[in-house]
Amino acid sequence: MTQSNTRKAVIIGCGLVGATSAFSLMESGLFSEIALVDVNRERAEGEALDIGHGTPFYGPVEIYAGGYDDLIDADIAIITAGTAQKPGESRLDLVQRNVAILKSILVEFSRRPFDGILIMVSNPVDVLTYVAAKITGLPRSRVMGTGTMLDSARFKSILAAHLHLDARNVHARIIGEHGDSEFPVWSMANVSGIPLSECLRNAGIDEAEKLMERVEHEVRTSAGRIISKKGATYYGIAASVKRLCEAIVRDEKSVMTVSTVLEGEYGLSDVALSIVSVIGAEGIDSHLPAPISEDEHRRLRESADALKAVIAELSL
Ligand code: 2OP
Repeated sequence: MTQSNTRKAVIIGCGLVGATSAFSLMESGLFSEIALVDVNRERAEGEALDIGHGTPFYGPVEIYAGGYDDLIDADIAIITAGTAQKPGESRLDLVQRNVAILKSILVEFSRRPFDGILIMVSNPVDVLTYVAAKITGLPRSRVMGTGTMLDSARFKSILAAHLHLDARNVHARIIGEHGDSEFPVWSMANVSGIPLSECLRNAGIDEAEKLMERVEHEVRTSAGRIISKKGATYYGIAASVKRLCEAIVRDEKSVMTVSTVLEGEYGLSDVALSIVSVIGAEGIDSHLPAPISEDEHRRLRESADALKAVIAELSL
């Protein structure tokens, strides 16, 4: 992360997720420059103009349609390019199309120096994070996917609604694949240090097990339900992108579930998925050795196996 007064983000892909992330970053004041890159330059120009017109209400940010040379002095590159899920599709259904698109983008990375942090957002985010890390050869601390950040946020917000509490006080995480094999780490879930089970009892919720099953299902099916109603998800992921950039720019050392290439954590390697990581100026500062239960460990292994089976089909 540069120490100068200029701070630049490059967003590659100006579809709904890219544009909404750009809007969220414009509002955040974290960057002095935001370059939008898209195969459809007109689209990038239009989004830059539209979002730029909001700056008088928030603060100065130079936002423009750029190109891959903007990577040279970028602090953070955010890849949102790719096709999105259609109703009924899983994230893994997108793999062939989006790996091809990602590879064409990574060729551009290889043609110029890039000293920043790469955030993968497109789906299937874990597979694409793995591909990006492999192909760029960047240190694993500097390549991460938004992973289950959004699922963890969905989990917290649903639990908070049941408990009638501020979601920021609910410490609960989804780990594994950002997709069908993801799962909640119930063993660690708490409200400001008070075990979740106590809080559920205190809130008069008797059938905690049933509620837990319902919440888990609700989180896993959230994206599908939104897509079937409005065609796409973009606000939640844009908020996740902004929060991740904030932790990096401010060197917060914040604890988040991001997708990262595993190198022996939980006995797993050669796959990217979300575990509990610490995010700061250098990207992934460290991984916290969260003491998950035996059953959660089994689910993490199953999630890794599902992703490895997809990776094995790719020619990298
Ligand atoms: C989401 O979870 C589709 O991955 C996207 O909203």
